[in-house]
Amino acid sequence: MRFKVEKIEDTKKLARAFCDSLDKDGLFVTLTGDIGAGKTQFVRFVLEYLNVKDKVTSPSFVILNEYKSDLCPIYHFDLYRLEEKGLKSIVSELREYSKKGKLTFIEWAEFGLNEIPDSALNINVEYDEENVDIRHFEFNSKNKTNDEFMERFIKKVN
Ligand SMILES: Nc1ncnc2c1ncn2[C@@H]1O[C@H](COP(=O)(O)OP(=O)(O)OP(=O)(O)O)[C@@H](O)[C@H]1O
Ligand SMILES: [Mg+2]
Repeated sequence: MRFKVEKIEDTKKLARAFCDSLDKDGLFVTLTGDIGAGKTQFVRFVLEYLNVKDKVTSPSFVILNEYKSDLCPIYHFDLYRLEEKGLKSIVSELREYSKKGKLTFIEWAEFGLNEIPDSALNINVEYDEENVDIRHFEFNSKNKTNDEFMERFIKKVN
């Protein structure tokens, strides 16, 4: 499912529909795509809609941020700065936070290679080939466990 994002408000709308489609089971999400295309911005809007106030993790641990919300705990990994040794050190967290009842984002999942559980819903964010002001968000899941979420999301987003 592909969405055209022409301005920042469109990212906001996608984030709103995304949040409205969540339930207490949470969701396990990988974010991939072009550098600077708007992955973190999407997560920021989600945190805003879920009324997140407290950042739990110490900011010195740049790879993982943890947040509290009324819905469920939220985890945001950014694997961009991760080296291979680093990946091994977070494998158990990746597994743990892919489980039900958590909302987890793995940004730059390209760097997670084979260590990321395949239950993820992937959001790939890319620039338009002709117009760099336009971005495309592609939601894709190979795993049936995300079907119900996707059905709700498609209804909300239109
Ligand atoms: N839909 C949009 N329209 C216009 N500007 C946007 C949009 N989405 C994000 N931006 C802006 O583009 C810049 C980069 O966004 P962001 O940090 O979210 O990208 P990213 O994909 O996470 O980057 P990186 O690859 O470095 O992790 C930010 O200044 C952000 O505010
Ligand atoms: Mg980012």
